[in-house]
Amino acid sequence: MKRLWASRFQKPRSDLDAWQASYPVDRGFWREEVEATRAYARALHGAGLLSDAEFQALAEALGRMAAQAEPPTGDFEDVHTAVEAVLAEAVGPVAAKVATGRSRNEDVVTIERLYIRRAGADLLGGIRSLQASLVQQAERHVETVVPGYTHLRQAQPMTWGFYLMSWFFAFERDRDRFRTALRRMDACPYGSGALTGTTVPIDRAALARRLGFLGPTDNALDTVSDRDFILDFLYACLTTGIHLSRMAEDWVLFSGDEFGWLALDEALTTSSSLLPHKRNPDVLELVRGLAGRWLGALVGLSTTLKGLPWGYSKDLQWDKTYFLEASEDLRQALTVMRQVVEGTTVRADVARARLQPWTLTVELVDFLVARGVPFRTAQQAVARFVAHAEAVGRPPESFTPAELAEWLPAVDESVRQVWDPAAAVRRRNLPGGTSPDAVRQQIRKAWQILQERDEAPDS
Ligand code: ARG
Repeated sequence: MKRLWASRFQKPRSDLDAWQASYPVDRGFWREEVEATRAYARALHGAGLLSDAEFQALAEALGRMAAQAEPPTGDFEDVHTAVEAVLAEAVGPVAAKVATGRSRNEDVVTIERLYIRRAGADLLGGIRSLQASLVQQAERHVETVVPGYTHLRQAQPMTWGFYLMSWFFAFERDRDRFRTALRRMDACPYGSGALTGTTVPIDRAALARRLGFLGPTDNALDTVSDRDFILDFLYACLTTGIHLSRMAEDWVLFSGDEFGWLALDEALTTSSSLLPHKRNPDVLELVRGLAGRWLGALVGLSTTLKGLPWGYSKDLQWDKTYFLEASEDLRQALTVMRQVVEGTTVRADVARARLQPWTLTVELVDFLVARGVPFRTAQQAVARFVAHAEAVGRPPESFTPAELAEWLPAVDESVRQVWDPAAAVRRRNLPGGTSPDAVRQQIRKAWQILQERDEAPDS
């Protein structure tokens, strides 16, 4: 196996070297390592450590390596070793200068940051697409009444458009968390050396800018020890994943036999090897279950970091699979949920039929309050009426105004209006509410957010 430190030892190496190698995983950062090495070479040239001709030769070879679609297969300890080895084949002895003063401890966090920046931008785009689908569907359903739940018991009528928009704003917070994570890690480790900085007089600020960072990191020891930027990224993946998981659960329920007012496109379901009638929401269940993996990643890496001596230790090599898998899982789950949103139809008639009239008894409270009854008095009177109606087994809207008057103060003929769910929805008309106008306002804001925030340089 190719190792950068082999000259240190005399005895033949054992197969332990293979076990310690990270190339099977970090070959995924080939592109970043090549890009970073090219920028580093330029910094060395600027510092007078590479001649014009040497830099030219290295830069050209690295350019060709960057265009390579796949990382090379070979027996390398890690991607840092692989790039140096391939470069040596291409340009000969001058390749030995390319890592002048550079430690893998700083190199690994540089390429990890580059990778996460790219993956993060991709995920921001994925969330945005899902959000756009949610808003498009919401536009079609600002008047579609469905039951709204607390404690998974019917609470109040709402519109499907309102429900969809609630997810838009939840995902907007996720985008914000990704942007914050990316902003916080926007500093370049190069120049940190193994832990104490470097004697090579590279222009750290120029090198940082060349790699697209805001500037260099502030303290070399912190830089090689820190993996907070991965935790930040994993946490952003996790909250997005928790949202996807809860959303998937709602879709499973609302499309199930007991709810039944969402219909899933056939492509979103599978059937059974035995039960001929089944249409199972496997896709949604897989998304729902994925949350465990994002949480596992965050807990796993946090546990590795806890109690680890400050400075680089090889334990840190385990950091990679966590964010590689987390971001790939999330990328796919976002695409899947977008197809779910677009492949779902609302069966408004079923939703209407399932809506329990009890969900409108709070309209009765409002009705009394509007006629001067103190809120608590009204709420308690309606609660007593509800208990009575339930005891005698009659739905609340079957009571005539005269019968209601036995239980409630200030009732007249106009009380009949309270049993209209569409009217109940229309009354929630303040910003943030479920009324068609309030939801249209949310939709306008959503389109504005999608436009404005996408123009920001960091998204
Ligand atoms: N493969 C290592 C990692 O992923 C690179 C850094 C190695 N540094 C060292 N001093 N052994 O963390």
